[in-house]
Amino acid sequence: MRQNSSPNRPMVERGTSWRLDGNAITLVFVAAGRDEIDLAYLGPHLPDGEDLLALVAAGHFGRHENEPDDPRIGGLLPQARDGYRGRPAFQIRSGEQAVHCDFQLVNVEADGCRMTAMWVEKSTGLQVDLHWKIVDARTIEVTTQLLADDEGDIILESASSLSLPLPRPFSHMTAFHGRWAREMQATTSRIGPQAIEMRSANGKPGFDAGNWLIFHGDDGQKDGGECLGIHASSCGDHLAHVVQDQDGRACLSIEALRQPGGIALNAGDTADLGQVTLILGDDRDHLTQLFHDHVRTHILPLRSDWGPRKVHLNSWEALAFDLDETKLRTLATAAADLGIERFVLDDGWFKGRRGDHAGLGDWQVDEAIFPNGLTPLIDHVQGLDMDFGLWVEPEMVSPDSDLYRAHPDWCLHDNRADRPTERNQLVLDLSREDAFAYIHDALAALLDKHDIAYLKWDHNRRLFPDNGLQQFAIQRLLGKLRQRYPAVEIESCSSGGGRVSFDILQQCHRIWPSDNNDPIERLRIMESWTRFLPLEILGNHVGPSPNPITGRRTDMDFRAKVALFGHMGVETNPAAMSEDERAVLRAHIALYKQWRALLHQGDFRQLHHPETGIYGQMVVNGERALAVVAQTGFAENFNVAPVRLPGLDAGKLYRVTLPKPWPHKASAYLADPAAWESGMVLSGRVLAERGLALPLTHPETAWLIAIEEKG
Ligand code: GLA
Repeated sequence: MRQNSSPNRPMVERGTSWRLDGNAITLVFVAAGRDEIDLAYLGPHLPDGEDLLALVAAGHFGRHENEPDDPRIGGLLPQARDGYRGRPAFQIRSGEQAVHCDFQLVNVEADGCRMTAMWVEKSTGLQVDLHWKIVDARTIEVTTQLLADDEGDIILESASSLSLPLPRPFSHMTAFHGRWAREMQATTSRIGPQAIEMRSANGKPGFDAGNWLIFHGDDGQKDGGECLGIHASSCGDHLAHVVQDQDGRACLSIEALRQPGGIALNAGDTADLGQVTLILGDDRDHLTQLFHDHVRTHILPLRSDWGPRKVHLNSWEALAFDLDETKLRTLATAAADLGIERFVLDDGWFKGRRGDHAGLGDWQVDEAIFPNGLTPLIDHVQGLDMDFGLWVEPEMVSPDSDLYRAHPDWCLHDNRADRPTERNQLVLDLSREDAFAYIHDALAALLDKHDIAYLKWDHNRRLFPDNGLQQFAIQRLLGKLRQRYPAVEIESCSSGGGRVSFDILQQCHRIWPSDNNDPIERLRIMESWTRFLPLEILGNHVGPSPNPITGRRTDMDFRAKVALFGHMGVETNPAAMSEDERAVLRAHIALYKQWRALLHQGDFRQLHHPETGIYGQMVVNGERALAVVAQTGFAENFNVAPVRLPGLDAGKLYRVTLPKPWPHKASAYLADPAAWESGMVLSGRVLAERGLALPLTHPETAWLIAIEEKG
């Protein structure tokens, strides 16, 4: 370790400020101490002539009693020295010894919409390059790179990808925590002196909270007011920590690259701490639109080439492990009859996989189920005008598999005698070149031999013991396969929405938001995901009734209307439906095809209804809009408040219809069915301000509302 070396560094004069501009926002940073950079402004675009000195001065509070004579503010790289009491950006060990970090600011470069600040830690020589960049009109990307000095090895016990002094209007935070089958439950907290800490462990960031956050200035009951959405892109574990100090300053820190035991940096090593994205919206609906635009433009792989999002039939909740070729052919034939366009063979097709106790790792077609291989089934599916998709779980291995018997050391394990399983499986250590090559080649062999249009890529076991390298290996594996098979679509599933992040989405075309297809649960789950992600990547399936997870029975009309808002699919056996149910489902699949171009390209908004239990979503694209409103409870009053449909041109006239089929019971309460069928002509203003009186009294009632500009 260095002893008190003092790098030659140009002094950054206290009070120096830097201004970054996007089309709609401005950031102002200021050198607030010898080595501290503070965020002086993050908000709507400032006038060109804004006096930054005055802006900074007018934002300064005077010194009060009981603080250091030269108070420390933390800023973009808080450090535990000179009296700063908050959470430090870095905690470092050298051997067994804790390093008393002294990061010295050596350079700041700012230009237009980007700024890079560089610090060097005095005793270890660790260099930190922090980049802030405004992309798009209101989106900021923050990345941090580390370079270890060539004099010694260190352990980073914690390392912040983002330290953000929170601008004062943001007094509240909404985070999304979840679990299997109940993802993304929104919880709003007031930010105060009791720290809020959210962490994910074991490689499933989507089941915890902290990688999708919204900061706002109210208690979350209303949707008005400026808000800041934040996402940590990494698909590994994260920690998010928010606290307000005694001086009333709140700071968010996100550590997105976390490894058990810390991150070891050897001399000369570099590390990238992952990207954090910040988006500033005028209100929550606006924030949603900005997230969708950002994901569509910057994250999704070549979305413009995708073509229409095909309707899936997935075999999981239809047949589970009860597979044979005849049953699958029958299922495919029944699927085609409904208008399905892609047949997805889920779990259970590969060697030895008769249940969830065996087979993972042996990615060869099981001869007991498919004596002549997969090709005859694929031919049958394609003969019905559908394409073929396949479930895989490449990162896993079953102890009862040929792969494990041949290579018991290829799984993540430590030196204990036992290897605890989850869902009877272990995780392949893909940072090993041999394991990586085996899995890559096994998938390539499948894709070379068969005409496979789509992979459902699952990840069901948590990563324990984790070596911290898996997230990079998985990115590399996906990247290599994407390059070799660019036409193959990939869905990311992790027991549902366990692993959803921009890093994963950069390689994938769809996510599986939840295993829970119960429409009442699904409405809430989709409400949360759609705050950040557009409908075309959110799989949404019609499941069986009773639902295998919740046991709830629901009407086909309700299930189908809920599934239409997303990338629609069916995950139940048409043979188990009545003729009437099949007709209702077929009609909704036809509606989905008719409207999907709009649903998957338009501007999405949640519809806010005063009654609890009513969910609404609407997508507007140019002259057309489609909305769904769904009642999940039993209304207090017979007539609920009219459904208001904002976002259209107030001065234009629209023809409004309720596309059929209608919910059976509720349609009896429609005041003028003929008018709803042929269409009512109303202005955008009436639709937004007064709204439509619809029968939404009974649970499991949903209406589609079609709106088309009157020519
Ligand atoms: C996970 C997925 C399900 C299904 C099963 C198959 O639970 O989330 O959708 O694919 O695995 O085993």
